[in-house]
Amino acid sequence: MIPRAKIDEIVDAARVEEVVGEYVNLKKRGANLTGLCPFHQEKSPSFSVSPSKGIYKCFGCGKAGNAVNFIMEVEQLNYIDALKHLAERYRIDWPQQVVSAEQLLEERIRSGERESLQIVNNFAERYFADLLINDDEGKTVGLSYFEERGFRPETIEKFKLGYAKESWDHLTNAAQFGGYNVDLFKLGGLVKENDQGKIYDAYRNRVIFPIHSISGKPIAFAGRYLIKDPKSPKYVNSPETPLYHKSNELYGLFFAKQAIAKNALVYLVEGYTDVISLNQAGIENVVASSGTSLTEGQIKLIKRFTDNVCVLYDGDAAGIKASLRGTDMLLEAGLNVKIVLFPNGEDPDSYCKKVGPLDFGTFLDEQRQDFILFKASLLLGDAGNDPIKRAELIKDIVNSISKIPDAFKRSTFLRETAILLKIDEQLLISEANRLVRGNISKQPRIEEFQYSQPSTEQELLIESVQELQLQDVQEKDLIRVILNYGDKPYSEEFESVALFIINEIALDEIEIEHPIVVQILSMINQQITDGSINFQYFVRHEDPIITEFVADIMSKDFEVSPNWHKKYDVFIDPVGYNFKEDVDSAILRLKIKHVEKLMKHNQEELDNFEKKGDMEQVDLHVHVHMHLTQKRYELTRKIETTITR
Ligand code: GTP
Ligand code: MN
Repeated sequence: MIPRAKIDEIVDAARVEEVVGEYVNLKKRGANLTGLCPFHQEKSPSFSVSPSKGIYKCFGCGKAGNAVNFIMEVEQLNYIDALKHLAERYRIDWPQQVVSAEQLLEERIRSGERESLQIVNNFAERYFADLLINDDEGKTVGLSYFEERGFRPETIEKFKLGYAKESWDHLTNAAQFGGYNVDLFKLGGLVKENDQGKIYDAYRNRVIFPIHSISGKPIAFAGRYLIKDPKSPKYVNSPETPLYHKSNELYGLFFAKQAIAKNALVYLVEGYTDVISLNQAGIENVVASSGTSLTEGQIKLIKRFTDNVCVLYDGDAAGIKASLRGTDMLLEAGLNVKIVLFPNGEDPDSYCKKVGPLDFGTFLDEQRQDFILFKASLLLGDAGNDPIKRAELIKDIVNSISKIPDAFKRSTFLRETAILLKIDEQLLISEANRLVRGNISKQPRIEEFQYSQPSTEQELLIESVQELQLQDVQEKDLIRVILNYGDKPYSEEFESVALFIINEIALDEIEIEHPIVVQILSMINQQITDGSINFQYFVRHEDPIITEFVADIMSKDFEVSPNWHKKYDVFIDPVGYNFKEDVDSAILRLKIKHVEKLMKHNQEELDNFEKKGDMEQVDLHVHVHMHLTQKRYELTRKIETTITR
């Protein structure tokens, strides 16, 4: 746990306009600042920051929050790490965690080892990069290779590319000279030991691609040979170390994470050079699995950032078929998978260089196709008219489709595949049902489902979701009203708006459903007892869900009137304008909603008693129904008079 005082210290220091200003070019507009939203693509600014309130809100994509929410979103960090990030930025001491003595010792050994390895890796990264730029051999052999591949100096700098000399002990000597513990270099796989116990460099005469952690630290290295040599592998890679677990890392993720969130899409490529070339072409949302097939850990990592993956395959058929299996794993994880196929013999790197960044971007947009339909047509071409092959093909496709967890998506794919393959949809459906049942018995958590056209059942579902959202609107509006005018005097009877509202809710026994609204109301109740409603308390709350919720609500005022927003300013406080009207209509709408809920419940009971033939109860419920209808009518009338008064 981080002490509340520490959170306050950080939130106090982290001015929202300053924090956001490091990522967004903000322009002053009245009391507020606006700019292009970093979370979605847009041409005219709909992202707005209110320094006085300490919040931001994008009217395009709806994202809102305080400085901490912003860092969480833009850097894709969890709450604690976002606070830590801000603490570092504002040079605030980060509190040491309190743990047991044993834990401490164990943790110290483990983190000590990791920290030392990190120091060694930082050193090696600088060492390789320095050789590439400043060493004669590095320049003529390494740098000229990268230049030949078309990498510009700023790209080489960004990815911290390097060079390892053609020597058995250059790095070993540099490590010893620098006073480093050579055992750590061995642990990190930078040097090796032969049978005679002699230490030698692991990377020789290779260009170096450092592999970065999600936070940008070098945790491993890949070295590519420069001349084709059948005796040695094309790439030499770091072994598994306490810092580096290959199956849980994606090359390029550090450079890609913001662009992935912003574009809601990640491009998946095979190799280091593909990532670098695409970055250089301005496509930053790209990561590589580094030649091997995808692992569960890597897919989990992707899912943390987006549900949309576009796989960029090399042109040759054998390669494509080999990677089809890995792609099924993406489907299984519930990701939406698209693919782009390159002309024979080209990979993303070579093709990007060939056609240039502009045409390459267009190519990606135009050639993107859905993975399932792509697979179907690919295999269809293979099978031709051979009935046995066709049967196998159908099985294969349906197998892929049955991996998709979302039932609605599955049925859409089955329909489209049936059309593509010119076969009976029903046939595909029954085959898929069979497979899905198999999947379910393996994974008991997937829900049973039926393939069908959108049914009345689904329509009902959509309706109830909409209803829930409406409920949300009224309950959220209550919080908006309290936070805006809570301290203002309401009437002779109620010294404040907050008191009035709390009283009304209690009086009518209105049940609040939204869990965050419930939480905030109870905190407001406490604040009333303590003397005053403190809006800043919620903006600076230690729960990021609350800060986000409150920031969103407090920027609602202008959403109601988009013209105001355009014409004057965002974050207009409708102060001065009749706040009582606002309060009254908010509470009336909530009451109407409440009455409607009671009516619905009553109706259900009425139907039941009618079925059972219990006429006494039916009469009673009809009576209640009439009473509630009358009540609703009165409330609706009141709203009308409130607004026109
Ligand atoms: P060219 O396309 O021939 O210029 O080479 P490249 O450096 O782009 O590599 P390539 O396209 O052949 O391979 C793609 C990815 O597969 C590389 O980025 C590596 O991640 C991985 N890879 C290729 N060869 C090896 C190897 O020998 N060992 C290991 N560990 N990985 C390899
Ligand atoms: Mn390549």
